[in-house]
Amino acid sequence: MHTDCVQADPSTLARAAKLLRQGEVVAFPTETVYGLGADATNPEAVRRIFAAKGRPSDNPLIVHVASVADVAPLVTHIDDRARRLMTAFWPGPLTLVLPKSDRVPPEVSAGLDTVGVRLPAHPVAQALIRAAGVPIAAPSANRSGRPSPTTARHVLEDMDGRIPMIVDGGACDVGVESTVLDVTGDVAVVLRPGGITPEMLREVLGEVRVDDSALRPLVTEQPRSPGMKYKHYAPQARMIIVSGGETARMRRMQQAYDEAERTGQRPVLLAARQRQAAFAPRAFSACGSVDDPTAAANELFAVLRALDAQDYDLIIAEAVDAQGIGLAVMNRLGRAAGFDIIDAAD
Ligand code: TXA
Ligand code: MG
Repeated sequence: MHTDCVQADPSTLARAAKLLRQGEVVAFPTETVYGLGADATNPEAVRRIFAAKGRPSDNPLIVHVASVADVAPLVTHIDDRARRLMTAFWPGPLTLVLPKSDRVPPEVSAGLDTVGVRLPAHPVAQALIRAAGVPIAAPSANRSGRPSPTTARHVLEDMDGRIPMIVDGGACDVGVESTVLDVTGDVAVVLRPGGITPEMLREVLGEVRVDDSALRPLVTEQPRSPGMKYKHYAPQARMIIVSGGETARMRRMQQAYDEAERTGQRPVLLAARQRQAAFAPRAFSACGSVDDPTAAANELFAVLRALDAQDYDLIIAEAVDAQGIGLAVMNRLGRAAGFDIIDAAD
């Protein structure tokens, strides 16, 4: 299959919408990461997503809509909490897990009685969903086991020959996937941290729990979000994270680097760009900025893809403060490193 990678404009969006209506899979930009979309009401189309991604079919997909009104047919009811969250954060990087209606085929929900729904903020995503005229099921547009794509080029790296079309809408804004919030129980639970932080959610809801899996490897057999049980992206190289007070942390990172080099390995340091001078002349890859945690979220997946293309044996990453969007960054770093975290203390 030839994969057409096209700039988003009215004529390419019309073509993409037509492909979606015909049951094909199209990759498109959202404000978080690129998605691999198909008609959520067409089981055959949804199966094509799993085939293109190489994804286990027991991991449910998020359904993307172009307006709040489009959620009603997908769910059995929308309670007051869900309404308030939609008003506060949609369009935007928040997925709400709600009780699903019969409109959502089991292929989308992986047999669960709930469905994740999201109204993305990206104008290209909105225009495409509207033009298709159907809700769009879409996971991140990476091959299973690779970092989520934040540019059309990343999608092409993973999907060339596997899907008919990629709509290029430039680099994604947030850079990590949406916050997944389960609002089916008494207390809302963050199943996956993302651009809408627990702090922001608490301002609207009061009490919000963060699932233990956010900063820890999963131990239970029955995760609340099936996606959590899969070993996510893991780099070719071994990866460790160093936490602790700034001075101790940086000293420990240098030690780990120098030890690795002495034993004949090729290490690289992954840290805020301001650290480069202090770490020189060691191999260094910048991710984010000490005073701007959103930059680390934005750059992380592209940096991990770039590191994977080089032949490092060990990636030594600097921990970030798990506050605000830093929680999403630490969650993705942690999963990439298998939560191998060294505490350098103070
Ligand atoms: O930002 C995003 O959310 C991107 C863009 C394309 O919208 N999509 C995305 O989809 O990251 P995906 O499939 O890569 O991740 C969806 C996550 C998985 O961990 C899945 O298990 C969880 O959401 N999920 C989906 N539906 C669920 C449900 N009904 N209950 C619990 N977890 C659910
Ligand atoms: Mg994904």
